Amino acid sequence: MPTLATSVNGLSLPNPFIIGSGPPGTNLNVISKAFKEGWGAVIAKTVSLDASKVINVTPRYSKLLATSGEVIGWENIELISDRPFKIWAEEFKKCKDLHPQGVLIASIMEEYNKDAWIEIVKRCEASGVDGFELNFSCPHGLPERKMGAAMGQDPDILEEVCGWVKSVATKPFWAKMTPNITHIEDPSRAALRGGADGLSAINTIRSVVGVNLDTLRPEPTVEGYTTPGGYSCKAVKPIALRMVMEIATMIRQEFPGRSLSGLGGIESGKDAAEFILLGADTVQVCTGVMKFGYECVKPMCDELLGFMAQHKFETLADFKGKSLDYFTSHADLVKRQAERKAAQKAVAAAPQKKTVQADGEWSGDDFVKQSNDLAR
Ligand SMILES: Cc1cc2nc3c(=O)[nH]c(=O)nc-3n(C[C@H](O)[C@H](O)[C@H](O)COP(=O)(O)O)c2cc1C
Repeated sequence: MPTLATSVNGLSLPNPFIIGSGPPGTNLNVISKAFKEGWGAVIAKTVSLDASKVINVTPRYSKLLATSGEVIGWENIELISDRPFKIWAEEFKKCKDLHPQGVLIASIMEEYNKDAWIEIVKRCEASGVDGFELNFSCPHGLPERKMGAAMGQDPDILEEVCGWVKSVATKPFWAKMTPNITHIEDPSRAALRGGADGLSAINTIRSVVGVNLDTLRPEPTVEGYTTPGGYSCKAVKPIALRMVMEIATMIRQEFPGRSLSGLGGIESGKDAAEFILLGADTVQVCTGVMKFGYECVKPMCDELLGFMAQHKFETLADFKGKSLDYFTSHADLVKRQAERKAAQKAVAAAPQKKTVQADGEWSGDDFVKQSNDLAR
């Protein structure tokens, strides 16, 4: 019988499905609901010491629908938690009293100020949390105060802040990376150099989800205006997978033993399997919970177990990073294809599907068919 139970940075999880920081972990009521439904761990909504500066607007979400009506993209301009730190500290404590086995991770964010980072870590630890996620990645609102993604885009600052946290934290901590950067390995490496036990990737992608063609106003529209926000949900999964692959490859080569929590568009056990195959130890779900409710963890676990049974994997470690070996350079793909074709020619004149090989072979009349023939 395969098992989903796993251990990461000393934390024992019944399964790898973690509530990603955001509305699904925004207060004690919803965190309790998550534990009751069987989530492997909860990362609470990001907190800071001074919530008085956090003022949200409505509407703050805007969805992108496929022609079928399915929600495939989700932009938000929501800030970190607007709830006072004192309330959070009390709720963290109550939560650990109510769910002693539940793995509770505090997501924290502060300005570039050593004392503030040290204070927030110490106060969260005093309230009993099991670990931390450092939010270096919120793409809107906070960067104006040099927080969130503004910090995550600067490897030197990231390393320094992780060093401050490392100097006081007795619990493991992960740095959550922004995808709004050209080479995600650079800040990731800096966070690990600074002492992070692991990384989480990705936060939302800076976006403008659309423009209303009646009012000519970009969305989500607040008093007639908007500001670029963070994009999440199914549509971001390919970008998240690519970044998880890049970070996992770097961890494998340079920081063996550090962990990686993958997220971005995960809605099923099969999605989770893909992230784990590309090197994630755990997976997080945020928008998926907003679409389907907390109960979705059960079918996700069942589907992941089904995948494991199909391949005779007993544990998550049996397939973690297994697909990383199949990435190579484009030049190597060309070489492999030439070798395969030459070998085939030598064996027999097997009929080959005629597809476009060189750019001069594209015809205007057959364009859609030719495009489809080139897809897997
Ligand atoms: C409405 C909303 C609020 C979010 N708030 C936070 C937050 O407070 N802290 C944080 O680290 N990430 C936050 N996120 C980002 C998610 O944790 C996650 O990184 C991102 O949405 C991609 O995963 P998903 O497609 O499963 O949502 C938020 C996402 C959404 C949709």
